[in-house]
Amino acid sequence: MPDLPRPADDETVATAPSAEAALGSTTDTGAPAPSDRNSLTVGADGPIVLHDVHFLNQMAHFNRERIPERNVHAKGSGAFGTFETTEDVSAYTKAGLFQPGATTDMLARFSTVAGEQGSPDTWRDPRGFALKFYTDEGNYDLVGNNTPVFFIRDTMKFPHFIRSQKRRGGNGLRDNNMQWDFWSLNPESAHQVTYLMGDRGIPASYRHMNGYGSHTYMWVNAAGERFWVKYHFHTAQGVKGLTDADATKIAGEDADFHRRDLFEAIERGDFPSWRLSVQVMPYEEAADYRINPFDLTKVWPHADYPLIPVGTMTLNRNPENFFAQIEQAAFEPSALVPGIGFSPDKMLLGRAFAYADTHRHRIGANYLQLPVNRPRVELNSYTQDGPMAYEHRGDDPVYAPNSFGRGYADNVGVVDPGWESDGPMVRAAYTPRSDDDDFSQAGALVRDVWDDAQRQTFVRTVAGHLLGGVKGDVLQRAFAYWKAVDEKTGAEIERLVRADADLGGPGGQDDAAKADAAAPVVEHDT
Ligand code: HEM
Repeated sequence: MPDLPRPADDETVATAPSAEAALGSTTDTGAPAPSDRNSLTVGADGPIVLHDVHFLNQMAHFNRERIPERNVHAKGSGAFGTFETTEDVSAYTKAGLFQPGATTDMLARFSTVAGEQGSPDTWRDPRGFALKFYTDEGNYDLVGNNTPVFFIRDTMKFPHFIRSQKRRGGNGLRDNNMQWDFWSLNPESAHQVTYLMGDRGIPASYRHMNGYGSHTYMWVNAAGERFWVKYHFHTAQGVKGLTDADATKIAGEDADFHRRDLFEAIERGDFPSWRLSVQVMPYEEAADYRINPFDLTKVWPHADYPLIPVGTMTLNRNPENFFAQIEQAAFEPSALVPGIGFSPDKMLLGRAFAYADTHRHRIGANYLQLPVNRPRVELNSYTQDGPMAYEHRGDDPVYAPNSFGRGYADNVGVVDPGWESDGPMVRAAYTPRSDDDDFSQAGALVRDVWDDAQRQTFVRTVAGHLLGGVKGDVLQRAFAYWKAVDEKTGAEIERLVRADADLGGPGGQDDAAKADAAAPVVEHDT
């Protein structure tokens, strides 16, 4: 055994003090700490005594170091930066941050969805693209993904969808059969699953993916005119994806590959940036557009609504403390500013509740008082007290109305970013429009947007996924699902799966991975 130096486990062992050590550590109540290496015992070999308060505090606080991880998007990374509005879109919104020349501090957090906090960055999954703008009019949070669409179109289905992508109740394992069961029983998922299984399904890094607001939002200009808007953040680094084989290898070598990439790029001054453009639909056109413009499973064709440039987001500052600034960051689609509103998208309206509610559970009722979340404007809210309340308004009136100068916010009448709505209360899907089927946009992606090489990789990816344990009726439905997207592609997926199944081997995933290894890293320009 090598002759290792003896650990410094005794107060009497001298160590050279570093600059920090010279400051001397303290207890949490501020007195000099008695020791950070030895507990208080009755004699050197005796028991620890209960009044070693510093020791007890260290242990007790350690037991409470973790907060619950996010229920979805648990693994993520973030950085601070700036958004600069370089174009004039004041005809569409009065929001201060989108006025020409405005520069706004911001925070971005990118994430995977289904994996837990320690899960590999390179698993195939959509990526979260959450932005918080600290504007002069309050926080504006745009909580999107790296895909312009989503799996479902009614929030009611969200918990079911997420459970199908996470772990089984019995064995605690993720299960492809469960995932395809949900997808094939919910055909509105086809467009998003096509994206997911395509070559953008595993980004090469967080810097090499686009971001989308995904939902339709409302913009309101200074004259009160309303518009429907979709956000597109195009990466200036170029879109790049990983093959399954590369992603699997990286997952084993460095589970934090994307976190490391983002941090190191910013550290070396290679600041990633994205160009924001919006698609704008005049308010009245939504009523009879051929696609329901509020359906989150659909994109708006650019031929109908071209991209209008807005500005540039640049990330240029790493967090100094990951827990305080990224783990405790709380993004909520409900944080809007004047000039920006919701739309009748049933997903967006559900999210308007979900996020602030989960933050109260995950972080605490006063999560907005933490520096990373606190709006950078003067607050004048009647919410008060609660656990860990730090900010307060002294002896100000705690009720409204009152006769002491701190009054009501009492806007009555038409709501600025609102829309007209009437009818009986129902539980129903959106009223169908002429082009509102579940498969044609997914089919167009496969047939018209992708080239042969992309289609081939896609077919292998889907087949490999199906060979990873999908069986029986679920497998039959999956074949039908892909044939509905594109007959030829679906048939090819079925042929590959059956060929492998006929071989009788359990090696479907391996074969698909081998085939993928031959495919190049996929690269897009936009
Ligand atoms: C995170 C709910 C749909 C993007 C979360 C979290 C919840 C949630 C509870 C965890 C938040 C936290 O603990 O901080 C829902 C519900 C949805 C929905 C109920 C159903 C409508 C979506 C959609 C998108 C999205 C459609 C993208 C277009 C995100 C992102 C995060 C997130 C990016 C991570 C935010 C962060 O980085 O902290 N969601 N979500 N979600 N969601 Fe959703």
